[in-house]
Amino acid sequence: MKTPFVTKIQVEKIAEQYPTPFHLYDERGIRENARRLKAAFSWNSGFKEYFAVKATPNPTILKLLREEGCGTDCSSMTELMMSERCGFSGTEIMFSSNDTPAEEFVKADALGATINLDDITHIDFLNKHVGIPKRISCRFNPGGVFSLGTDIMDNPGDAKYGMTKPQLMEAYKKLKTLGAEEFGMHAFLASNTVTNEYYPTLAKILFTLAVEIKEQTGICLSFINLSGGIGVPYTPDKEPNDIVAIGEGVHRVFDEVLVPAGLGDISIYTELGRFMLAPYGHLVTKAVHEKRIYKHYIGVDACAVNLMRPAMYGAYHHITVLGKEDAPCDHRYDVSGSLCENNDKFAVDRMLPEIEIGDYLVIHDTGAHGFAMGYNYNGKLKSAELLLKEDGSVKQIRRAETPEDYFATLEGFWD
Ligand SMILES: Cc1ncc(COP(=O)(O)O)c(C=O)c1O
Repeated sequence: MKTPFVTKIQVEKIAEQYPTPFHLYDERGIRENARRLKAAFSWNSGFKEYFAVKATPNPTILKLLREEGCGTDCSSMTELMMSERCGFSGTEIMFSSNDTPAEEFVKADALGATINLDDITHIDFLNKHVGIPKRISCRFNPGGVFSLGTDIMDNPGDAKYGMTKPQLMEAYKKLKTLGAEEFGMHAFLASNTVTNEYYPTLAKILFTLAVEIKEQTGICLSFINLSGGIGVPYTPDKEPNDIVAIGEGVHRVFDEVLVPAGLGDISIYTELGRFMLAPYGHLVTKAVHEKRIYKHYIGVDACAVNLMRPAMYGAYHHITVLGKEDAPCDHRYDVSGSLCENNDKFAVDRMLPEIEIGDYLVIHDTGAHGFAMGYNYNGKLKSAELLLKEDGSVKQIRRAETPEDYFATLEGFWD
């Protein structure tokens, strides 16, 4: 079962002030989860989570995570600028970008961020535009497929990211020659994994490689970034990841591979987005139309502009009809938005309780890669973001877009 973190009564009250649709985040859930992650990796004295800003680029969320000891992982100029404005600096910022424009390297360097190079050619590019910083990281791509037992989890050989193993070895040597002194390694091999084995398996690959790097180049890495990829159960039948078991799994391989090789000082970093935020966000929307043709539709006031994952990936997001949590799911609906796109559906053939016009629907697990992926197709506007605070009050943390925002880039171009 998936239970919303708000009730119908709470949402009715919130909607008096902030019209639907809106994204709502749960401060208590976010903080408690961040503390669980930190505790699970407390065996590693240098552990740090660099929250993937792309998942939920909101200053209030970033500052809240900073209070919980997190840094930021940025992938673009605006994410770097947002981190800076939220007070992050220096080694609190990881810059894990790809196909990177020179000005973004310049900005990352000016902030003292740790630059994570996606490609061997970026060494010369970086050197030309900013020079080689003392502390630097390289992204690894092992190629092939990434499997856990018999399950193929993802296909790194098809992914545009990272360097091959020979390139990685060469990159460290070259960076050292060019003056780098402190080195890290990063890899992201599978997305949204709902298994406690992903991180330990990835860690074993990277730890073994760290030993080889030491043997072949004499370089002792100072950090290994396991990046993102710990997922959340979007469907109610799946068990969530157990972060304690994941932390213990990584600890086990750390002791098995790194400690005997004299690399027990390596700091472990994570760069999670989805795991940090997804379950602690709801997209709240209202049923505004009911339509019966060849299928039975409920039209809501949100659309793919507010949450793109179902339209883009066919992703499942659980839906709760507020106030009808215990009613039988005996109606089969397509829950649709208003875009002129037939894939603008939050649910297809979903069994739900009978929905009446005016009912509030909570779309679950929208706290990461939700609002952030929004766009403006059909001239639709992005919603507000709200924070349900620990004391039960609600704070607006981003206002809804207005037509003026939409037209702002056309200012001066009407005639
Ligand atoms: C470089 C990098 N780090 C971290 C993340 C966060 O991934 P997730 O939200 O799956 O944890 C992403 C997501 O796309 C990414 O590209």
